[in-house]
Amino acid sequence: MEKQKLIRIFDRQATQYDKKREDPKQKLWRQNLLSHAKGEVLELAVGTGANFPYYPKEVKITATDFSEAMIEKAQQAVKHYHLHADFICSDIEELNFPDQSFDTIVSTLSICSYKNPIVVLDKIKRWCRPGGKILLMEHGISSNFMVSTLQKTFNPLLYRVYGCHYTRDILGLISESGIKIDKAESYWLNMVHLIWAKPQH
Ligand SMILES: C[S@@+](CC[C@H](N)C(=O)[O-])C[C@H]1O[C@@H](n2cnc3c(N)ncnc32)[C@H](O)[C@@H]1O
Repeated sequence: MEKQKLIRIFDRQATQYDKKREDPKQKLWRQNLLSHAKGEVLELAVGTGANFPYYPKEVKITATDFSEAMIEKAQQAVKHYHLHADFICSDIEELNFPDQSFDTIVSTLSICSYKNPIVVLDKIKRWCRPGGKILLMEHGISSNFMVSTLQKTFNPLLYRVYGCHYTRDILGLISESGIKIDKAESYWLNMVHLIWAKPQH
């Protein structure tokens, strides 16, 4: 899909994402993951800042997203939670930081929407400092035959409406990228994965 069209799809969903931040299951997962964040944090595809309530207060966040509407909501959220964050409105696939710039890199519910997930995972691996943490909460193809068949059938339609792919092999992509998984938990017939990882230096 053409990039400007994809950005418009996410712009239109900003209000709806802002309301979804109270989802109790996601709250628990986000809490579990983000309590491990430390130091200088890069959050990719921050959306409306649904992770903000769960960061330790002392972290310094750089938050990115290519949707201005999402960033506007995230800027309101960061004030509400008294966190320190700088925002960059950009396509992650075109963004560059020096290697080993961050102690923690966070991406939640986002690998589904990148055009080239391996390109982004490679950047994550390079931008994370040795000894740093890569924290991911991502959704992809289920290991259940019935569910995965439905995901494959409806994926073209869902992508056009929501801008997300529902058929990505998340653990496979991470392994292909060379990022080293320390711990992974999978939920909802292996559709959702919580991942604690590190760059393999
Ligand atoms: C499904 S939302 C998830 C938002 C948030 N991470 C969360 O956990 O609620 C996906 C987000 O990724 C952003 N996004 C998708 N592709 C992107 C890209 N290539 N560069 C920057 N942001 C992107 C969208 O604008 C949207 O805010």
